[in-house]
Order: sequence, then C-alpha cells, then structure tokens
Amino acid sequence: MCGITGYIGYRDAYPIIINGLKRLEYRGYDSAGVMLFDGEKINLSKTKGKVSNLEEKVSKEITTKGNIGIGHTRWATHGIPNDLNSHPHVSQSGNLVIIHNGIIENYNAIKQELISRGYTFKSETDTEVLINLIEEIKNKEGVKLGKAVQIALNQVVGAYAIAVFDRSKPDEIVVARLGSPLAIGVGKNFDEFFIASDASPFIEYTKDAIYLEDGELAIIKKGRKVNIRKIQDDSLVDANIQELQLNIEEIEKGGYEHFMLKEIYEQPRAITDTFRGRLLAKEGIIKISGLENNMKKFLNAERIIIVACGTSWHAGLVAEYTFEEFARIPVEVEYASEFRYRNPVITEKDIVIAISQSGETADTLAAIKLARSKGAFVFGVCNVVGSSIARENDSGTYTHAGPEIGVASTKAFTTQITLLTLIALRLARAKGTMTSADYRLHLQEMELIPKKVEQVLKIDEKVKKIAKKYLLSTNCLYLGRGYNFPVALEGALKLKEISYIHAEGYPAAEMKHGPIALIDDRMPVIVIATSKGHYEKVVSNIQEIKSRSGKIIAIVTEGDTVVRDIADHVIEIPETEEALTPLLTTIPLQLLAYHIAVMRGCNVDQPRNLAKSVTVE
Ligand code: F6R
Repeated sequence: MCGITGYIGYRDAYPIIINGLKRLEYRGYDSAGVMLFDGEKINLSKTKGKVSNLEEKVSKEITTKGNIGIGHTRWATHGIPNDLNSHPHVSQSGNLVIIHNGIIENYNAIKQELISRGYTFKSETDTEVLINLIEEIKNKEGVKLGKAVQIALNQVVGAYAIAVFDRSKPDEIVVARLGSPLAIGVGKNFDEFFIASDASPFIEYTKDAIYLEDGELAIIKKGRKVNIRKIQDDSLVDANIQELQLNIEEIEKGGYEHFMLKEIYEQPRAITDTFRGRLLAKEGIIKISGLENNMKKFLNAERIIIVACGTSWHAGLVAEYTFEEFARIPVEVEYASEFRYRNPVITEKDIVIAISQSGETADTLAAIKLARSKGAFVFGVCNVVGSSIARENDSGTYTHAGPEIGVASTKAFTTQITLLTLIALRLARAKGTMTSADYRLHLQEMELIPKKVEQVLKIDEKVKKIAKKYLLSTNCLYLGRGYNFPVALEGALKLKEISYIHAEGYPAAEMKHGPIALIDDRMPVIVIATSKGHYEKVVSNIQEIKSRSGKIIAIVTEGDTVVRDIADHVIEIPETEEALTPLLTTIPLQLLAYHIAVMRGCNVDQPRNLAKSVTVE
C-alpha cells in the first residue's frame, strides 16, 4: 500500500525515483507523483493511474533536472484516486512538500483548526493536513524542519511513513515512520542517500541500508551521517547500517511474462531454500534455530493460536491439521483482524504464531502486540527479513522464499506450509507423539517435494487449455477435505483476486449444506481428490456434482482411474504423504487462476484495488 521513494545526492534524481516507483508498483496503488528540486524551483507532477501515465505527464509538464526529489504511489484512503489527491502534497506557502504512506486518524480535527487559522485545502487527503500542520508549527515556533515534523507527529494519531522536503533547506529530507516501513539507502561517504518503502528501489546503488524503527525520525543531509531521533522525546538513536542480502535478479522478471508466473515457477527453489540447513532427512534431524531456542516453551504450551490474514491465514489452517495430528497440540487459527478486537482469552501458556509474508500487515502486527501484552509468547513466521512483524515477535523464523512481487501470494504460501510442517514434525519428535518410522518417512517425503513440484509444473500447458474453456465463467466452486480444505480456499482466493471471477472454497462435505444449490452446467467445480485422505467421500461429492451437470476439474493422484471416468478434466499430481499434498495440489490452482486472469486481460501482478502489504487496517 502506497510506495515511497526519494533521492538526495549527486546523480539525477528523476530516473532513480521513477524506476524506484516501478519497483514498488507491486505494493498496489491507484495514482503516482513526483517532486524534483532543480536548485531554484519545486517541480511537481502527479496523476491518477499508473507510473507509466506519470512518466508521460512529467515529460509534458516539468523539467526533470535536479539531484533531490521524492516520489510516491498512492493507494487511496481519504479521497478518491484523482490528480489532486495524489501525492506529493505542498503546504500553503508552497515551500514544504510531503509524501505519506498511512493514515492520519485525527486529521479532521486538525484540519478544522487549520481552516480557522486561514489555511485552505486543495485535496481531500489527510496528508495535505499534515504538511500544513508542519508548516504552521515551523512558522509559529520558529523551528527548523526536523523539529517542526517532530512536534507535528506528536500531535497526530495514526500510521505513517513520510518524507518531507523544505525548499529553504534544499540539501535535506526529513523522514519518519510509525507503522509503515521506511528504508534509507546509504551511499559511500554519505555523498548520496536513497529513501524507499523497501530496499528494492536502490539495490543497484548501495548494499548499505538503515531500516527506521517505529517512532523514529531521521534528518538526511548530503555529506553527513544520518541523524536519527525518537519522535516522542527527541532522544538520539544510533544508526544501525545493515548489509542488504537482496539481489537485483530477485526483483526482476527474468524472462517471465509476469512476476506471478515467475514466482509460481520459483517454488521448487523456494521450498528448498526454506528447508536448506534445517532438514537433514538422512540423519532424521530438523533444526530450526528460533524453535530450538524456545523448545521448552513450545513443549509446555497448552495451546497454539495462529494469527494471520489472507493467504497466510490459509497456510495457518493447513498448520492446524499438522500441529494437531503430529504434535497433538490444540490449535486455533484466527483472522488477525478479528482476534485483535474481540478481547480473546490468552494466557501465558499460549503460544501465538503470527504468519506474514510481508511482515508489515497492520492487523497481524496489532494482533501480535495484543497477544504479547497479555503474556503470550509470540513466534513469527515471516518472509521479509527485518520487517516490522519479524522485529515485533519474541522469536521466530524466516521462510526464505525470496522477494514476492506479484500481489497474489504463491511461493509465500507453499514456503509457509513447508516451514510450519517442519515445525510440527520437530515438535512431534520432541514430544514423542509420532512414531519414528512415520517421522522419518515425512522427512524423506519432504525432501522430495521440490522435485515433485517441478513435475507438477510440467502440466502447465494442460492447465492453460482447461483455463481457456472456463475463462468466461462468472462463478466457480473449489472443494477439498482435510489438509486440502485450506487449499480449496486458497485456490478460490487466487482466482477471485486476479481474474475477478467470483469463487468460493468449501470443505467438500459442506457442499450439500448450501452451495450445491448453485450447481448447474455453467458452474465449474474444482475438486481436490487425492488418494490419501477421505478419497471415497470426495468421490461421492464428485458424483453429486456430476448428477447436477456441474463441470468438474479434479486434482487427483497420478494413476487414478475412478475420478477420470467421472470428471470433465483431471490434473494429476505425484503421490506423497497426505500432510504434504497441499504443497502439490496448490500448484495447478495457482496456474489455473493465472491463465484465466491473463486470458481475461487482467493485470495479474497488480490486480485492481489490491495492495501487496496491507499496512492499514
Ligand atoms: C493473497 C494475498 C493476501 C495476503 C494477506 C496477508 O494472494 O497475498 O491475502 O496473504 O494480505 O499478507 P501477509 O502475508 O504479507 O501478512
């Protein structure tokens, strides 16, 4: 949600900012803008639409000269997406410019106060209110920009990552964060700095980055060390410069038409990276350091509560099955957004596992804070290293899926399942709730999963042909049981979010309690009917669909002959242990959604209205 870029240094700022905005497109946005300072004049251009629309507008409207500038992609909160509401926003005097990611909740009260002092507003945004508040403080108190920003932020309620420029201080940018990420790329000898929502916009320029913590403000000035202070009390903070592990290849499409397709195909590698060094199948060992260090807590836990949103929540549902079956620990899986507001019963004997790809999801972050305040031990399963959620936990572990740029989560899901399954197996071993033969079998099978995913990916052409038949569908049903019930939910989510076809996932047996009424010859039903786990029962469900003329696309284990005779299409996956089937059955569902969306002409990597990291609640 919203992307921020900025540059101050000796290079032309515009190409860095515009390319940075393109790298941040994955976050989801509906308008874009830039501000460049050419040494004399503030040059501003902004527009509703894509970064490519902005480029076109910039070429007609402004000079792109200047070594300092800021850029923004906006995901609308206050005010519709239009040119006026787009960022950057300029203060009443025209001297201060701001970009903002987040929400100022008390903006209306501040706005009324500013109006009574003669301020007028061009946009409907909370951001324009903030920049005028900063200007009002700067003028009234006679303070410098950094101080004015600090005082203003102490008066606002909400979440933000901001970058502010002051025309009277053209070698400086002030940034601050609370609840929304902000990274500062540091050039050699401090001769240039980059600002961004994540490190991807500046990865080719520097490997040194500072991740601002919540409640911190930084004054970035060319030729000087970054001056970081706590917003609340102005105390000085040591700048922690970290070396980035990111590579440029990881954030490019590498010959694929879309990031989503690249990420689907990356899954064999991503799953291997997730268990690399952690799974020693031959020795019968699973070693996950965050878990080993807290083994006692896990063994004494009376309950595990999993909190997450969206696809990560679906991975949590799969984990509910593995943790309960293998480790015999009761599990509850909660939407973080519900958990945080319903006064849940949590005790010190609970372990809360928070799952998040981005590590920035506002609801999951709030759920973690709530659980910790009630004494629970919080363990994070994140993908983005150093993200807010990763830092907010008591302990945790990373999935190592690599950057996921397509808005629709794919490799994040399968790597989350991989890691959570390893945790469940490790706990089962420690608790003695699984026979050693069964344990070893699962380890060996897990090691084979990347090869089996590769095998599943080979059916891509077949899935594409099926996709062609159903691309005009308006509704779609996904059914699965046991471990594959969450996969049905995930398959439906993938289809609806990128192709805009209405789709629902259900436990197969629930169909007859309602959804069966929807079935007719125009309704495709995707059924996961693998050989292990309630197979016969799912076959009966398939018969019920067939008798009502539904169109059946079945995901089956290779060699299946029964379903082949009933279904309209079958997609085979290799045999594996039941608990590991989600890692294989998910793949054709991802491909199906992908191809349908492409054939419908949808923007697969940036579906409408969606954001990659949901940093507002
Ligand atoms: C769906 C999708 C979302 C995310 C959800 C949580 O494809 O990507 O449903 O899974 O917004 O995001 P994270 O995992 O970053 O907390």
